[in-house]
Amino acid sequence: MEPGIILKWDNKEVCMRKHIDFIRTQSKKHTKWFSNSLPMIASENIISPLAREMMLSDFQDKYAEGPVGDRYYEGNEYVDNVERRVKKLARETFDVDYADVRPLSGTNANQAVLMALGGPNKKITAPDVSDGAHISSAKFGSVGFRGMEPETYPFDVDEMNLDIEGTKKLIRKERPDIALFGRSVFLFPPPLDELKDVFEEVGCKVWYDGAHVLGLIAAGKFQKPMEEGVDIMTGSTHKTLPGPQKGVVLANPANEEEKEKLSAGVFPGVLSNHHMHSVAALGITLAEQRKFGEKYAEQIIKNAKALGQALYERGIDVLCEHKGFTESHTLAVDVQEHGGGGTLAEALEEANIIANKNLMPWDDVESAKEPSGLRFGSQALTRLGMKEGHMEEVAELIERVVVNREKPVKIKEDVKALREDFQEIHYCFDGGEKGLHGMGY
Ligand SMILES: Cc1ncc(COP(=O)(O)O)c(C=O)c1O
Repeated sequence: MEPGIILKWDNKEVCMRKHIDFIRTQSKKHTKWFSNSLPMIASENIISPLAREMMLSDFQDKYAEGPVGDRYYEGNEYVDNVERRVKKLARETFDVDYADVRPLSGTNANQAVLMALGGPNKKITAPDVSDGAHISSAKFGSVGFRGMEPETYPFDVDEMNLDIEGTKKLIRKERPDIALFGRSVFLFPPPLDELKDVFEEVGCKVWYDGAHVLGLIAAGKFQKPMEEGVDIMTGSTHKTLPGPQKGVVLANPANEEEKEKLSAGVFPGVLSNHHMHSVAALGITLAEQRKFGEKYAEQIIKNAKALGQALYERGIDVLCEHKGFTESHTLAVDVQEHGGGGTLAEALEEANIIANKNLMPWDDVESAKEPSGLRFGSQALTRLGMKEGHMEEVAELIERVVVNREKPVKIKEDVKALREDFQEIHYCFDGGEKGLHGMGY
């Protein structure tokens, strides 16, 4: 048993201090580990110093239930000023009429939309989990918990995208209330333009889960969902948008009633307080995005393509070579012949290359522990200042783990050496109070 677990009243302080020391030490170790690693999980990123400062601000302690300017609790003068400004920044960044910055995460934003527009008597179409959709859109996730069973779109594995004719057919047949798009392995934009006529014919609400690609979309890259027939877009704010762990609902609501429904879906639908420190941090991220986002997004995509090419040339089966591998930050890699996604994600971790195993479209959900694939994201490496040329070095390190099966400890030293030159956070303003941020990043 861990020391400090068995408590006597008279040594309680000593024991509790041990717990505190333990937790602080783990946090420091984590920071040190990651400052020596290649962060390549496609759903993560690194917050800027100024945004991190807001995460440590006293806004953390506040409750701000109810509408801006008409809260249920007092003491929200400055909180209101901030939330009003962040909503405006979000509306401007995504060029929408309506932005809700309260959801606590991408899943929470999705739950809010489902509370507003879904329900047991509603029909929804969505991508399938093994084709890269997020669990929140599955029967066993938020959609199912709202009493709905998604009809899933047919998928073209060679194109790693929806089968357009099949999707049209499905939407015409099901006549859903909501057609949901967006994925966690999001290599290429879904063909919304081609589907536009069918959406109009059926009269469904078009919902785009842009969790992974929100930063790319904010920069005008990947695709422009709101110009391609989408009514509502949700997303996480901490993947390609390099902000705090949070979510957003963005929309061009049809009318005031729909706007109110969307708002009530968030509060009181799925949350009570909405964590003002992260709202403030999101505001900083959005302001930084407006200044640096375009260059950042361009480099993310260039790096992902360059990494795809470099891995492919090393005999690693990166999907969609014929399409330039990706149009986003993400690469999907079939590593079945090298030992499987689960085994290799662990080996990569031992070498300080942090990525994740992933289902490929031909895997069934039962093989989640040892699926065929690995997923890599370029957004955090780009945030640390890496360019296309560095992707060769990254690919070589991955090759040594995946193909050559060298001992990870040996590779780890070379990963650390590479990372030494990449300790600064790029595409953001300098600043933040000294000592409050970025311990190692
Ligand atoms: C497509 C998609 N939607 C929603 C989410 C959930 O986001 P969060 O982790 O912020 O709840 C994810 C997470 O990776 C995702 O990939």
